[in-house]
Amino acid sequence: MGITLDMVWQTLLRATPESLREGRLGLPDGGPTLVFDPVGRVHDTGIVPAHALELLRLYLPLKCRSGLRIAQIGQSLDGRIAADNGHSHFVTGPEDIRHLHRLRALVDAVIVGPGTVLADDPQLTVRRVHGTNPVRVVLDPRGTVPADRQVFRDRQSETLLLEGGEIRHDMPCHVRQLTLPVVDGVFAPQAVVALLAQRGLHRLLIEGGGRTVSQFLAAGQLTDLSVTVAPMLIGSGIPAFTLPAIADLAKALRPPCRQFPLGEDRLYLFDLSHSTAAPGRLPNSTTRP
Ligand SMILES: NC(=O)c1ccc[n+]([C@@H]2O[C@H](COP(=O)([O-])OP(=O)(O)OC[C@H]3O[C@@H](n4cnc5c(N)ncnc54)[C@H](OP(=O)(O)O)[C@@H]3O)[C@@H](O)[C@H]2O)c1
Repeated sequence: MGITLDMVWQTLLRATPESLREGRLGLPDGGPTLVFDPVGRVHDTGIVPAHALELLRLYLPLKCRSGLRIAQIGQSLDGRIAADNGHSHFVTGPEDIRHLHRLRALVDAVIVGPGTVLADDPQLTVRRVHGTNPVRVVLDPRGTVPADRQVFRDRQSETLLLEGGEIRHDMPCHVRQLTLPVVDGVFAPQAVVALLAQRGLHRLLIEGGGRTVSQFLAAGQLTDLSVTVAPMLIGSGIPAFTLPAIADLAKALRPPCRQFPLGEDRLYLFDLSHSTAAPGRLPNSTTRP
C-alpha cells in the first residue's frame, strides 16, 4: 500500500518530542523516516505524495511549537465572521473546516467565547480527521451562557466552564466550574492561560469568536494565528478583529506569514512566537521597508 494522507497525519500526531527535535518522522510498519527542516519542508525522496508533503509543511511547525497557543478565524474578504444576527454557517469551505478539526487535534484544550456558544452551539470535537478530542473551555464572565448547550450536555470530552461569579447550579455535575476575576467585563487572557497551565493544559486553540481571539491577540498571548479568508463579502456583521486603534501603519501587525490554498479559500498562518509583546500590549510588528 502507498503512503496516504491519513497515514502521514496520524504519524504526525503520534510523533514524539525527541523525533520532532531531531527533525525526523518515522512512517509506520517499517516505512521510511522522513527528514524535515524547521519550516516543515520534508526532504523529498519522491515517495511521499505532494498533498501529504503540503500537509506536513503546514502542520509540522505547529506540532513542533512548544506551548502552542494558536487562534483561528474564518472570515470573509471584508473581515466578517458572521452576519449581524450571528448567522455564520458557513463563511469558509469544507477544507477550512477540516483544517479547524486538525487544529483541535493538535491541542490539549479549545477555548471559545460566550457569543460563540450562544450563536453556534458547537461540539468542539475532532470529527473530520483522526485525532483525540481536546478539553473544551467555555469563557462565561457574566455567568449567563445557557446550560442546554451541547458542550455542557454531551460527554464527548471534558468541559471546563470559566465563571466570573458564583458557581452555577443549573449545570450538569460533570461540567467542571472554575472561577476567575473579571476585569472590564472579560477575563484577562493571561489569567486564563495560567489557570489552564495549572491543570496541565498547555497547548491551546482559541477558536473564536472575534472578540475572544482579539483579546488574546491584544494581550500578546498567542504564538500563532490562523486566518482563513473566503472570497465573499458579508457587508456588515460581526468583525473578525477588534484591536486598539493605531495612528501609524508602521505599528500594524506584520508578523512572518505562510500562505496555503484551502479549496476556494486562502489560509494565512502568522507566526507570533518571536513577538516581544508584554502582557496587555500588541505584539511587535515588522515594519516594511
Ligand atoms: N468564522 C469563525 O471563525 C468563527 C469562529 C467562532 C465563532 N464565530 C461566530 O462569531 C460570533 C461570536 O463572536 P463574538 O466576537 O461576537 O463573540 P465571542 O468572542 O464568542 O464572545 C464574546 C462576546 O460575547 C458576548 N456575550 C454574549 N453573551 C454573553 C455572556 N453571557 N457573557 C459574556 N459575554 C457575552 C459579549 O458581548 P459584550 O461585548 O456585550 O460583553 C462579547 O462581545 C458568532 O456569530 C459565531 O457564529 C465565527
